[in-house]
Amino acid sequence: MNILLTGGAGFIGSHTAVELIQEGHTVVVVDNLVNASPESLKRVGVITGTEPRLYTVDLRDRDGLEQVFAENRFDCVIHFAGLKAVGESVAKPLEYYDNNLTGTLVLLDVMRAHGCKNLIFSSSATVYGSPAEIPITEHCPKGAPTNPYGWTKSMIEQILTDVQFADKEWNVVLLRYFNPIGAHKSGLIGENPNGIPNNLMPYITQVAVGKLPQLSVYGNDYDTPDGTGVRDYIHVVDLAKGHVKALDAIGRRCGLAVYNLGTGVGYSVLDVVNTFSQVNQVEIPYVIKGRRAGDLATCYSDPTKAGEELGWHAELGLAEMCQDSWRWQKNNPNGFES
Ligand code: NAD
Ligand code: UFG
Repeated sequence: MNILLTGGAGFIGSHTAVELIQEGHTVVVVDNLVNASPESLKRVGVITGTEPRLYTVDLRDRDGLEQVFAENRFDCVIHFAGLKAVGESVAKPLEYYDNNLTGTLVLLDVMRAHGCKNLIFSSSATVYGSPAEIPITEHCPKGAPTNPYGWTKSMIEQILTDVQFADKEWNVVLLRYFNPIGAHKSGLIGENPNGIPNNLMPYITQVAVGKLPQLSVYGNDYDTPDGTGVRDYIHVVDLAKGHVKALDAIGRRCGLAVYNLGTGVGYSVLDVVNTFSQVNQVEIPYVIKGRRAGDLATCYSDPTKAGEELGWHAELGLAEMCQDSWRWQKNNPNGFES
């Protein structure tokens, strides 16, 4: 199939490009490079032998996007493009709503105009808010996200649901990711956050490589086995393979479908720190700090539905996630700039 990846130069998009190309699909990328480097796609080319074509276009630039659709015929769009920093979204809500919502609305309108009505969307476990049940199944009602970023995910899910309801020619798959970490085994592509990382694993790898002095563990008084927050970490390559499987659902004309992509296993912050230290033989100094605003004690998925309907299961465990994250960081201490 001919697949357009919006935001395809980013962390999850570049890993998905590798898996799609290796399965024989053709990949085209639209990315404004606000949080990515074109080097990521060059490296996708090194891994697969085929560098995806990049259009450096902002999704809100209707004329630019029109041009992309005029020059290509896409069977499906995988929509990764968006701003994703939770804290920044609290400080800059207008920028987040504009980028994520306007970008999606323009994309959908241009897709419709060109008769491309198949879309896979990068959603998030954040749409469950404070979840009514753990492990979280897709039956769990959506809740109130604690920040504007989360609201953009919830609102885009609603927009896509309404669009598919109004026009049954659309096939839409909402993929609710849990906590993606890890990197491609080659060590050539990985997560490359701007500035000081917000998320646990890139913070740990930057401590490990000596860029940051120590990790702050946000709270050890949660109702969890060791008191630190529990999450469902998923290897980004497993996550990427979930998108390839979701294409099969599109091919079966699934209408609207929703899947959790997680492992179903929860690990605490200290589990991650200890596993990282053990498998990589690197000490991670840390201090216990107060809780971070908006954090949940525990969040992990029930991924049964994706297993039953897509034949997808996460295969890689926490040790490989830690090893692969470290290989990427060690080989590229300054990300794609090194
Ligand atoms: P990323 O920042 O690495 O990738 C997003 C890409 O979108 C970047 O390359 C950026 O340059 C591009 N982009 C942003 N706004 C754009 C616009 N207006 N026009 C064109 N390109 C634009 O992030 P990621 O971790 O790869 O996440 C991909 C998607 O998955 C995002 O939608 C994110 O919200 C979602 N998601 C990520 C996580 C996570 O923890 N990484 C968890 C749940 C959901
Ligand atoms: N944590 C620390 N220290 C840090 C960073 C994180 O102790 O420096 C802890 C957090 O308190 C939490 C756990 O590590 O207990 C994971 O935190 P992350 O920031 O890595 O991930 P979150 O679960 O908070 O959020 C992530 C994405 C969101 C997404 C959410 C649900 O960042 O975009 O998963 O999918 F919405």
